[in-house]
Amino acid sequence: MRKGEKGILILTAAIVIVLMVVQGVRLSMQKGKDPGIPFYTTSSHEFARKASVLYREYSCRDCHSLWGIKNIMNSVPAPSLDGQGEFHDEQWLYKYFSAKNPQAMEPSRLKPKWQMPSYADIPEEDRRMLAKYIASLKVKDWYLEQAKKARYEKLTGKEYKK
Ligand code: HEC
Repeated sequence: MRKGEKGILILTAAIVIVLMVVQGVRLSMQKGKDPGIPFYTTSSHEFARKASVLYREYSCRDCHSLWGIKNIMNSVPAPSLDGQGEFHDEQWLYKYFSAKNPQAMEPSRLKPKWQMPSYADIPEEDRRMLAKYIASLKVKDWYLEQAKKARYEKLTGKEYKK
């Protein structure tokens, strides 16, 4: 190996080591800062997959966002469904989806032109599956207060007090 080549090799190795150290420091700094996604589901992967098919079929995402996904062509300001299971249980959700007039159960908190449609006419099995899935959407403890606050303020326009 010529002298010049050896120099380049050593220099390259030194650069690689420096880059690895910098990256390592960056990752370890991020760990403390980013606690991850605050939403999760208690459903099995298989059940969540099946329920998501219904969720798409019935166009829920035209109005709601879930896991950060929403149809951006539609601007209905419906509440996000992430963490819904903290606010309504399965039984309530099943009744809500089965109601001919969902507004009678949960008075519309938004402008009358934006309303939760009735799903009373879809198969009972589908309503049950949707209710079970939506009820399984939870919020991690460290984010729960913030999620309650965000939901309350979005739906009432008022400031949230514990
Ligand atoms: C046309 C728009 C639209 C569609 C489609 C729609 N929703 Fe809604 N949904 C709304 C609106 C608006 C509300 C808020 C009701 C209110 O005024 O309080 C709502 C409320 C809800 C709530 C109660 C939220 C809360 O914070 O209390 C749940 C749960 C829900 N929808 C689930 C669904 C599911 C599941 C589907 C699909 C099967 C669906 N929605 C389809 C507009 C829609």
